[in-house]
Amino acid sequence: MSESKRLPREREQAVTVEVDGSPVVCFAGETIATALLADGVAKFATRAGEPRQPLCNMGTCFDCSVVVDDRPLTRACLTPVADGMRISTGQGD
Ligand code: FES
Repeated sequence: MSESKRLPREREQAVTVEVDGSPVVCFAGETIATALLADGVAKFATRAGEPRQPLCNMGTCFDCSVVVDDRPLTRACLTPVADGMRISTGQGD
């Protein structure tokens, strides 16, 4: 029988980020996209007035764009969370 190839289940240290003014607890090492999806955020950004969520999860589509610490167009799927980070969703055209 082969050895298990599952990823470890231990999570890193808990950190708190601010999402649209509310605190959200997540874990160091996670991306912003992971933290937002785990928190039930349904709209990361808008494009042509339509709500967007992560699509490619590899940095090419920008459907996961959020504002992080006043930096627009931050790709949530590529950016790790950091304690105290301020995240704004729902931005776009
Ligand atoms: S989900 Fe496509 S760039 Fe992040």
